[in-house]
Amino acid sequence: MMLAARIRDAAGGALLAAALVAAGCGGSVDRPPLPVGDAERGKAMFAAAAGCGCHTATGGQVGAGGYEIATPFGTFYGTNITPDAETGIGRWTDAEIDAAIRGGVIKGQGAEAPVMPYYRYAGMTDADVADLMAYLRSLPPVRRPNTAHASRLPFARLAFRGWRLLFGAAPDDQTTGNGDAVARGRYLVDHVSICGDCHTPRNLLGAQQSAYLAGTAHGPDAEPVPNITPDRASGLGDWTSEDIATLLESGMKPDFDNVQGLMEEVVEGRGGGPGYRHMPAADREAIAAYLRTVPPVENAIADE
Ligand code: HEC
Repeated sequence: MMLAARIRDAAGGALLAAALVAAGCGGSVDRPPLPVGDAERGKAMFAAAAGCGCHTATGGQVGAGGYEIATPFGTFYGTNITPDAETGIGRWTDAEIDAAIRGGVIKGQGAEAPVMPYYRYAGMTDADVADLMAYLRSLPPVRRPNTAHASRLPFARLAFRGWRLLFGAAPDDQTTGNGDAVARGRYLVDHVSICGDCHTPRNLLGAQQSAYLAGTAHGPDAEPVPNITPDRASGLGDWTSEDIATLLESGMKPDFDNVQGLMEEVVEGRGGGPGYRHMPAADREAIAAYLRTVPPVENAIADE
């Protein structure tokens, strides 16, 4: 573990990742069949996952793809996850959809999705994935061919494969924390709502776990993302759990200011689809309860 942690923090890790890739360490997903999903429950998971918003273009149709994701590896476009037979996932089996969500393996491509945070979703329970898939299959099919990714580096996919080996290899045991709000909150934050995707700063290889949820001056869209650890000086030290739950429901901060940009989008949902504000209230409260328990990290993020 310690070695892995050190490798993660080392800038030279990228070279190691490349070496691992060269050594042919791929990954395969081999799981028992999933339980039968429930679309209604899946809708709540979809909301907790911010409507899988990377698959909905701003102002576009829910799940039809086209959202632009700029990364240091190139520009990628969210794919069509509606059940359209030609351009979406209409012909994919449950196992194939699951392999994409929790394994990042895209049907017919034999390679990982470059920016899909499957290494986080890998911790989702079988039941939650089954429900989510049932809901995806109930979305209106939209015929929209995927936009080709514009990757500057042919290396991108290999780099991400190495990244997966380092970050995605050991998903948590499947604990949803039923009955325990803090454990439930941790499950949602880390594996479904993936708050850390924006709120944890990234180093060369991905998330920087020593600064878990401590914010960054350069978020996914180059805008600052605040520190949401309970640090008094630079984080949410003064916020109550209620303040946090209220923000996830209404986008409103304790000072009555509204969140903007990416946070507004994940709270509201993109393209009229669901966002955090549509998840069950108990789940928003669980996230708030968990956030109060994470280690405070002092990391002041300038506003502009
Ligand atoms: C897609 C990126 C993204 C994701 C995912 C995301 N956030 Fe945010 N969050 C932001 C940005 C950007 C801001 C700053 C918004 C602003 O200042 O108007 C923000 C602001 C906040 C704030 C306000 C903090 C402050 O000091 O003003 C809280 C609390 C928060 N997020 C919690 C969460 C939680 C909890 C999750 C997961 C359930 C989450 N966020 C997921 C991008 C994101």
